[in-house]
Amino acid sequence: MGLFEGKKGLILGIANPFSIAWAITQKLHEQGAEMAFNHLPDRDKPKNEKKLRKLVEPLGAELIVPCDVCDDSQIETLIDRTAEKFGKIDFLLHSIAFAHPDDLTGPTYACSRRGFLQAMEISAYSLLAVAGAAKKKDLLADECSILTLSYFGGEEVIPGYNLMGICKAALECSVRYLAAELGPDGTRVNAISAGPLKTVSAQGVGEFQLMLDLYEGVSPMRKNISMDEVGNTGMFMLSGLSTGISAEVVHLDKGFSKMGAPPHDFINKLRSEG
Ligand SMILES: NC(=O)c1ccc[n+]([C@@H]2O[C@H](COP(=O)([O-])OP(=O)(O)OC[C@H]3O[C@@H](n4cnc5c(N)ncnc54)[C@H](O)[C@@H]3O)[C@@H](O)[C@H]2O)c1
Repeated sequence: MGLFEGKKGLILGIANPFSIAWAITQKLHEQGAEMAFNHLPDRDKPKNEKKLRKLVEPLGAELIVPCDVCDDSQIETLIDRTAEKFGKIDFLLHSIAFAHPDDLTGPTYACSRRGFLQAMEISAYSLLAVAGAAKKKDLLADECSILTLSYFGGEEVIPGYNLMGICKAALECSVRYLAAELGPDGTRVNAISAGPLKTVSAQGVGEFQLMLDLYEGVSPMRKNISMDEVGNTGMFMLSGLSTGISAEVVHLDKGFSKMGAPPHDFINKLRSEG
């Protein structure tokens, strides 16, 4: 019997087959989970909806709802429809972030007020908004697990990550406050701080290939993480195997974030390459 047999959940943030949320969804499905999904609302043609349906319908998706997290009424509709379908949910995945390239690629002191607010709203506030709407609707089952995706640039300075680093710091702090507030109801809230993975959003972050090279050279394992690994860790964090973990930021980065200085072989390689 799968770990998620009889378990129901809501997945936010599958845009395409490269999305982290898709990697986690596939692992949840293998373990028997039933799921509802959101996509960004379409303007003219149903492009986002079609892309999502192509992926999740073969898995027997229970519900597909458009939801822009900047719109409270769309969040409410998503939560209402999920409640109608499932009654309660055992897990909620939030795998959403956005910053306009004009605000993301420059130094943080040059980002616009509007761009800062938009990035914060989508990348950090949305976790509070969705969790709040779910709590208000009494959607969260006992021992519900909420999981979001973060990055090390929210803890320390990673050149190029810039504005998104500030958003991730707010997101990780939101995880801790939410965990403290929802814990008495039996709900856990955590984040995975994932190393770089080639997704559409990641390409918007400055010098992405350089980041992959850096992790490969510096991490204790001398490797980058894989989609399979983020899928497995996401599934674990949403499952009943991780009931002792809450208010935590789990580093899934082959140990990169624990290195205080680059290893000698990496420095020697840089020297030999001149
Ligand atoms: N790829 C990486 O290297 C990496 C590393 C660590 C953390 N993350 C985080 O993982 C999460 C998922 O990103 P990804 O890399 O899978 O990229 P992705 O582009 O596949 O996913 C981002 C998702 O955010 C959604 N989104 C953006 N604005 C939205 C809005 N207003 N309303 C609703 N949805 C909206 C997009 O539709 C998309 O599904 C993000 O929080 C990202 O910061 C990514």
